Amino acid sequence: MASIGHEVIGIDVDLDKIDALSRGEAPFYEPGLPEILVEGVASGRLRFSADISDAAGAQVHFLAVGTPQQPGGYAADLTFVDAAVDALIPHLAPGDVLAGKSTVPVGTAVGIAERIRSTGATLVWNPEFLREGWAVQDTITPDRLVVGIPKDAGGERAAGILREVYHPAVAAETPFIVTDYATAELVKVAANAFLATKISFINAMAEIAEVTGADVTQLADAIGHDSRIGRRYLGSGIGFGGGCLPKDIRAFSARAEELGRGESIAFLREMDAINLRRRARAVRLTIDALDGVYEKNITVLGAAFKPHSDDVRDSPALDVAIHLRGFGANVTVTDPAAIPNARRLHPQLTYVEDRDEALRDADAILIVTEWDEYRRQLSPEHASSLTDGRVIIDGRNCLDAAAWRDAGWRYFGMGRP
Ligand code: UDX
Repeated sequence: MASIGHEVIGIDVDLDKIDALSRGEAPFYEPGLPEILVEGVASGRLRFSADISDAAGAQVHFLAVGTPQQPGGYAADLTFVDAAVDALIPHLAPGDVLAGKSTVPVGTAVGIAERIRSTGATLVWNPEFLREGWAVQDTITPDRLVVGIPKDAGGERAAGILREVYHPAVAAETPFIVTDYATAELVKVAANAFLATKISFINAMAEIAEVTGADVTQLADAIGHDSRIGRRYLGSGIGFGGGCLPKDIRAFSARAEELGRGESIAFLREMDAINLRRRARAVRLTIDALDGVYEKNITVLGAAFKPHSDDVRDSPALDVAIHLRGFGANVTVTDPAAIPNARRLHPQLTYVEDRDEALRDADAILIVTEWDEYRRQLSPEHASSLTDGRVIIDGRNCLDAAAWRDAGWRYFGMGRP
């Protein structure tokens, strides 16, 4: 927002984060963010504060707190949303716009609008579609902008203010969809549900490929050429994880149940189950390839839930690593960005920063996060110089199987012969 000319103040309750951000340091790994952050802070247009009263005087307030999965349930935990709204209410003024970006169960916005009514501010729902690793690009040049507005006159006015806020994207004729609250809330969860379904669909095909000898990656290429289907998000392997897709499909199921329409999206539970089975499949492949993993040295390449991120929330990579350790393997994990976060979550695993050191004497190598360091920059010849083990499990179907086999390795993919 600062980089496109706005005066911005970022507010959080976490003092350490506020201090780091004020120094121009991003508290997580996100390509392109450090540069834009330093620039914003240096320009004076971007400031940070832990004091919510500093929100007073702003015309637009973005609500962007997390909505994690509830402990012990599938529904979204709205504690942070509620706390942020309560804290902000005394500082809202008539004519202000409160723009909700958090991913919430459909029906949440209408309740927040009611709570802020007496302030004279207008609530709009403006879901966020950014991907980690591409966050800067997705924010500045989004595929579309969606704004859910109330039916009264304030709604159109607020939508107009958001058009001004997003002026570069609007000038570039980015689709700008003005709708009601419920649709805006649903667009977000529907988009994530669709993406999760697409990934689980191809992974279901991988399960069929495994019993028929077919190659799921060629299958994905072939169906992906059909422009109605498209190749993106048909990447097969150990499936989806992260802070969004898994919890969003679960929260969506929970909300649909509450609405008496659980059956409409009952298939999402199946998508979740397919997804989790693929993690177990990678573990099983490894056990079978090594004829048992007890006391075997296994190197796991990747800890982040996907490349270009240090996020390990619900990471399929770490899940596989933990299970192999549970079967008695000596598991060594490496990752270019996610080791500090992984270590905090699973201190019982062994972490090695240097890829080659991690690979030394491995009985089997698993690639579970497709960083370029592993998929492009690790040749089978080089791996052969580091270990006598000759087993490679490609949990992301991202390697050239023939090249590894030609170099004397036993290659195992996920749904490819
Ligand atoms: C997702 C949505 O893409 C984004 O629009 C939304 O705002 C937040 O949730 P993100 O969680 O950053 O973004 O990750 P994404 O790139 O979508 O990947 C999610 C998971 O799916 C990762 O674990 C990734 O490895 C996996 N994936 C993705 C596949 O297994 N196969 C694919 O083809 C694509």
